[in-house]
Amino acid sequence: MTLLKVKNVKKTYTTRFGGMQVQALKGVDMEVNEGEYVAIMGESGSGKSTLLNILAALDKPTQGEVLLNGKSLTDISEKEISAFRRKHLGFVFQDFNLLDNFTLKDNIFLPLVLSGEHYEEMERKLFPLARELGIGGILEKYPYEVSGGQKQRCAVARAVITSPSLVLADEPTGALDSKSADELLTLLERVNQTGRTIIMVTHSAKAASFAKRVLFIKDGRVYHQVYKGSKTNEEMYQNISNILTVMATGGVGHEK
Ligand SMILES: Nc1ncnc2c1ncn2[C@@H]1O[C@H](COP(=O)(O)OP(=O)(O)OP(=O)(O)O)[C@@H](O)[C@H]1O
Ligand SMILES: [Mg+2]
Repeated sequence: MTLLKVKNVKKTYTTRFGGMQVQALKGVDMEVNEGEYVAIMGESGSGKSTLLNILAALDKPTQGEVLLNGKSLTDISEKEISAFRRKHLGFVFQDFNLLDNFTLKDNIFLPLVLSGEHYEEMERKLFPLARELGIGGILEKYPYEVSGGQKQRCAVARAVITSPSLVLADEPTGALDSKSADELLTLLERVNQTGRTIIMVTHSAKAASFAKRVLFIKDGRVYHQVYKGSKTNEEMYQNISNILTVMATGGVGHEK
């Protein structure tokens, strides 16, 4: 079943001073089915975060529309969208978005608190997850007391602790060493295996090779995509690396 349908989405930002316009998205078309694991790749500034924010209805497209379960996001009230986010969406922000006055534990608990969960239940969910992410020993610390990678893992824990049906992750391994990245990717893979949909923006071919499909964005449009099919992670990694090289060197394109 189609979960998300993106139809000719364009986004133009007007900068605050001087009125400069930036066309971040120039007509994105894509569909994501329920249960898929999609990675989105593309150069810095190609519009990946912009797209993810639009998918989460945190930002509005300038043109085009996004359908969630067949319903246009523009027709859904802000109240309904908030409820959807609370109940079904986990978002890992590129800059983590942790609350500085909350410990890591309370940051992770936040979505559960908002849905009125009991404390014992929150702890029952937290401990195995925190252990798996390697942050079990620092849960009482505040974000400014921990490293970037630890903050990132905390942000991932906060996004998945509610078992959301859709996880949008913006560069979730960007601040991690390769061992922590592998652990995180294994966790996301397992989240996907329980039927949840994942859309992950990443600059890492290694991270993208875990996904079942990779979309490549260039100059605000979908430039190419590959399905993993029966390929191993290693074969997928090679495939992705080759495409990135072709994109970077401006080789034969699929530009629409
Ligand atoms: N709020 C904003 N106001 C003006 N321009 C913006 C804004 N947000 C993003 N942009 C511009 O839109 C374009 C796309 O930005 P976006 O953050 O989506 O890129 P990205 O693909 O996520 O890059 P990165 O890999 O560096 O995170 C860039 O040119 C960026 O400078
Ligand atoms: Mg970004």
